[in-house]
Amino acid sequence: MINHINNKHFIEGVSLEDISQAHPTPFYVYSQSKITSTYESLKNTLDTEIFYAIKANSNQAIIKLMASLGAGADVVSVGELERAITAGVSSKKIIFEGIGKTKKDIAYAIEKNIRLINVESIDELERIDKVALHQNIKVDIGIRLNPNIDGKTIDKITTGKKTDKFGIDTDQLEEMFQILKDLQNVNLISISCHVGSQIFSINVFIKIFQKMKNNAQIFIDKGYSIKHVDLGGGLGVKYQENKEALNLKLLKEELNKCFNDTPYKLSFEPGRYLVANAGILITSVITTKNNGGINFLITDAGMHSLIRPALYQAHHEIEAVNKDSNEFINYTIAGPICESSDIFAKNIGLPKQKVGNLLVIKDTGAYGKVMASNYNSRGLPLEILVNNEDFVVIHQPLNVKEFIALDQIPEWFN
Ligand SMILES: Cc1ncc(COP(=O)(O)O)c(C=O)c1O
Repeated sequence: MINHINNKHFIEGVSLEDISQAHPTPFYVYSQSKITSTYESLKNTLDTEIFYAIKANSNQAIIKLMASLGAGADVVSVGELERAITAGVSSKKIIFEGIGKTKKDIAYAIEKNIRLINVESIDELERIDKVALHQNIKVDIGIRLNPNIDGKTIDKITTGKKTDKFGIDTDQLEEMFQILKDLQNVNLISISCHVGSQIFSINVFIKIFQKMKNNAQIFIDKGYSIKHVDLGGGLGVKYQENKEALNLKLLKEELNKCFNDTPYKLSFEPGRYLVANAGILITSVITTKNNGGINFLITDAGMHSLIRPALYQAHHEIEAVNKDSNEFINYTIAGPICESSDIFAKNIGLPKQKVGNLLVIKDTGAYGKVMASNYNSRGLPLEILVNNEDFVVIHQPLNVKEFIALDQIPEWFN
């Protein structure tokens, strides 16, 4: 995403040096053209409907960009539903998923007349029917299946194994069909699955395709008119130069082979794939120190700005903006949070750095800012979108005084 020209670091036509003159670190920068080209190549290759999983990056400007490109939205809360609608995603292009939907959530989704509510349990199925009955409406639903497939990713991001909390266990389908027979206010038109994130193995996708095709046939044989089969997200993203990218062409070939004569539409719901490589996090070195022979660079971004390394041991490449020194040092890059897990990278070689220098933490467009927090009462990072020669702040977080002011002191303390 970064082009190096005359010792400067460019995102499209804007230099990082210019952005950092205008805004304090830490901040995220996203490239509009990178998001656009990634979306278009995915859409053109797969040639299915795409529902952007907005949990990956739910900034209003990013959702609006996706909507303008023609993407639908996959949302997992009323907050995300509200974001999608506010950003201009047509309600008929919104799918509401999520493992814990309350009656209130369901009523809200029905009121917004969205494409589908994806059901994650038999209990929820009955709840949706009750809410729809109360509103005197028949609501379109999909069933999120738990296909019992190991996505071969890390445990914390697998969602499609039998023992994971997501989706309806396919062993319970008979029970579900019995219950469905008596529900008058739901219209079952879709099935879906999502087996986890960061899937690179084409064999895993083949398993997903085959299982979903077989399951769709089970529903069709039961008399349900399945119009739509959603194959989930999880498309693998390259976080390291030397890793192989997901082979989309092969994925498409397998998709065609499996679903060559089926009567329903197909879709995917990727989040990470569309935005991860289109974002970077810029941080400043606030302290340099050596403890026990380890050279630390302490940065103003930390696990409160980007939690993936601390939470998932996720790898992000880190580049120093200032490469003036000929001396190379092995650094551990750590945030300012009072937790030993607040570390971005260990033992990476960089030209010698000093306080005030900028570092770029790469490929942070997905699950970055959305998972940031005010832990240690630190501020959230700013977000900036670059488009050609322009850049604009797309999220200006509250300052410390503003978020302290949100706390309510009970009257009994007065
Ligand atoms: C139901 C569902 N769909 C799609 C996604 C998007 O996954 P990814 O960002 O890996 O594509 C997720 C991620 O957790 C999810 O839970």
